[in-house]
Amino acid sequence: MARTFDSTSREFDLAAPLVWGPAGQSLVFALKLAAGESVLDVCAGTGASALPAAAAVGPDGLVHAVDLADDLLELGRVKATALALRNVDFVCADATTWEAPSTVRSGYDALASSYGIFFLPDMDASFARLVRLVRPGGRVGVTVWRKGAFEEFSRAYYEVIARHSPDTEHTGPRSRTGYADNPIRRIETSDLLAAWLEAQGCGSVEVTELSNHVPATADFVWNFVLGSGMRGALAGLDDAERGVVRDELLELLTARGVDSIDATTLVATGVRVS
Ligand SMILES: C[S@@+](CC[C@H](N)C(=O)[O-])C[C@H]1O[C@@H](n2cnc3c(N)ncnc32)[C@H](O)[C@@H]1O
Repeated sequence: MARTFDSTSREFDLAAPLVWGPAGQSLVFALKLAAGESVLDVCAGTGASALPAAAAVGPDGLVHAVDLADDLLELGRVKATALALRNVDFVCADATTWEAPSTVRSGYDALASSYGIFFLPDMDASFARLVRLVRPGGRVGVTVWRKGAFEEFSRAYYEVIARHSPDTEHTGPRSRTGYADNPIRRIETSDLLAAWLEAQGCGSVEVTELSNHVPATADFVWNFVLGSGMRGALAGLDDAERGVVRDELLELLTARGVDSIDATTLVATGVRVS
């Protein structure tokens, strides 16, 4: 996981202004953070939610931004420095084993994770454990893709990939064969996500949809391929072949009239029940 995301760090961050940033801001807003609070942000990446969280809790609060991919965390550290946010620690660690340090002995005031929870092995048990790191009455917030997000785009991409590596079976949430049994499917509608959060120990759950339709420019399309798990399907193709995949993908999207990419996101919050 760390290798995948480290190798994508540059392209990953290019999607920040249009995708990761709006969702991270929305999540922090929905969590209703207050000055002085402590926040655990898991799968924090380059800080799309951790940085606005740090601003929200102010100098007397703190944010622990945890991720496995140190290259992404390093970009987050650089941004935090540029913004003079000194209350956020970007820590390279596994969210599935993270423990609250003694400074937050009674539990975090809030847990945040933007587009992260579906990567956790054994999603239910891992997330329920993270919820228990929050004090009873503290808030829990996540963002996930809404059903249908990136669907036309990824269908076209894997069609093109199949022309170039027909014998390779691709896995992952967006591949043709990897979607059916991916955990992402269990939390891809408001009702499913609300019920799932309740099952993991949250009450008073609220889910809103963040509509986001990103213009399908050549830059965005290819950066998203290179900056996401979709990049894995390019392994084994040389630079020239990758260039052909890129051109064919752009042609196919144009032929199908796909001029924007649906990146609609569910933003959910709840309260840890004791
Ligand atoms: C799609 S990115 C989202 C990053 C960030 N939250 C954002 O919205 O920009 C998912 C992140 O989850 C991280 N991740 C996956 N499994 C993890 C784990 N077990 N512990 C910590 N981070 C993990 C990846 O390294 C990656 O940075």
